[in-house]
Amino acid sequence: MDPVRNPYAPGAGQRPPELAGRDRELAAFEVVLERVARGRPERSLVLTGLRGVGKTVLLNALRSQAIGRLWGTGKIEARPDQSLRRPLSAALHMAVRELAPRHRAPDRIDEFLGVLKAFALRAAPSGGGRPGKGGPAKLRDRWQPGIDVPAATGRADSGDIEIDLVELFTDAAEVAADVGTGVAVFLDEMQDLGPDDVSALCAACHELSQSGAPLIVVGAGLPHLPAVLSAAKSYSERLFSYQRIDKLDRIAADQALVAPAAREDVEYEPKALDALFETSGGYPYFVQAYGKATWDHAPRSPITAADVRVARPSAEAELAVGFFGSRYERATPAEREYLRAMAELSAGSSSSDGAVAGTVAGSGGGSPADQAVPTADIARALGRRPASLSPARDSLIKKGLIYSGERGTVAFTVPHFGRYLRGQPTDTVL
Ligand SMILES: Nc1ncnc2c1ncn2[C@@H]1O[C@H](COP(=O)(O)OP(=O)(O)OP(=O)(O)O)[C@@H](O)[C@H]1O
Ligand SMILES: [Mg+2]
Repeated sequence: MDPVRNPYAPGAGQRPPELAGRDRELAAFEVVLERVARGRPERSLVLTGLRGVGKTVLLNALRSQAIGRLWGTGKIEARPDQSLRRPLSAALHMAVRELAPRHRAPDRIDEFLGVLKAFALRAAPSGGGRPGKGGPAKLRDRWQPGIDVPAATGRADSGDIEIDLVELFTDAAEVAADVGTGVAVFLDEMQDLGPDDVSALCAACHELSQSGAPLIVVGAGLPHLPAVLSAAKSYSERLFSYQRIDKLDRIAADQALVAPAAREDVEYEPKALDALFETSGGYPYFVQAYGKATWDHAPRSPITAADVRVARPSAEAELAVGFFGSRYERATPAEREYLRAMAELSAGSSSSDGAVAGTVAGSGGGSPADQAVPTADIARALGRRPASLSPARDSLIKKGLIYSGERGTVAFTVPHFGRYLRGQPTDTVL
């Protein structure tokens, strides 16, 4: 069918034509916004899930909700080895700019901007990982945060990120309280924050929630994010409300396909939807990828199961490059060896995974979902001592390709990654 009218949108952070299966999260966030704006105690929110389940898209949808309620909002994507100061300053600058036109006292806004600038200028001059140590002014001032007021002194500029963040958040929340709303900071890829920044962020959220100040952080990250947070502050478990973002159930996955098609007067035969669900396993990225390829291959409405079968190889080829391959390429040869061993072991023979096994079927059909693998088994399979594999494992975790959910095990962050690797000829891999 006409590719120009193809509604599906596979791609990182791509807004889907239909945000399916997230009504619960959206409704819960409405309540959070309302409570925080009224000074009620509320926990900051953290969304966790595998690659491609729709964390970024949901984060953006929550941000739109906050904007709809006239909150000030800003968004950051954390990067490994990057300090939080500069991106956070930019995000809060954006948030306060949104609030400023409704504020009755421009001086208060300027005052806050002065504090924000002071906070930003404590960043390391290169934008690197370490905070500024208050070195020579010419070094610190080479980078400018683009704020047109002089930097304040004595607030949010101690150089200790934990102290500074509490002060900065408190002041930002006050500006929002003046206009009767709040500030929401959206933090994607939160697991990539450095330990000092994670610790400071937890401390700041803790402080703010105690005082009922209207500022919340909404984070998103990989499944081990709760572990990263609780390693920084033991109270983080009570501080954040964790929401696991998962693959879509059958009803939501169908809705993600059917609703956008209906808007183009295109229908699916029920068997086509069976085939698409079997193939995608309900993972949003795959729903979009297979939906898109199927649309392009189908000669006419209604779309049939045969159309799905014909389209499958081209969708898989595209996923191999865009979804799997781009990530695999980031691994070194030693790390690839590790991933290969994991893939073989994760195919597993366990039947404990029966609940999801039926939803994860490749072109061959019926293979079980990738399971967590004990690191000891990987060492055994590779004929190595476990300790000698730690660097590869740690680096793969840092690159966001695997995570350690339970002690002593690792799992892929990318759904169907094991199956993809098992389908690759070994010589292209090592
Ligand atoms: N609720 C949904 N319904 C339908 N499609 C969705 C939904 N959520 C996300 N998608 C689609 O899934 C794909 C991946 O979404 P997104 O980039 O938000 O995932 P992610 O969890 O942030 O992945 P990553 O961990 O790689 O950053 C996009 O193509 C998006 O359009
Ligand atoms: Mg994302």
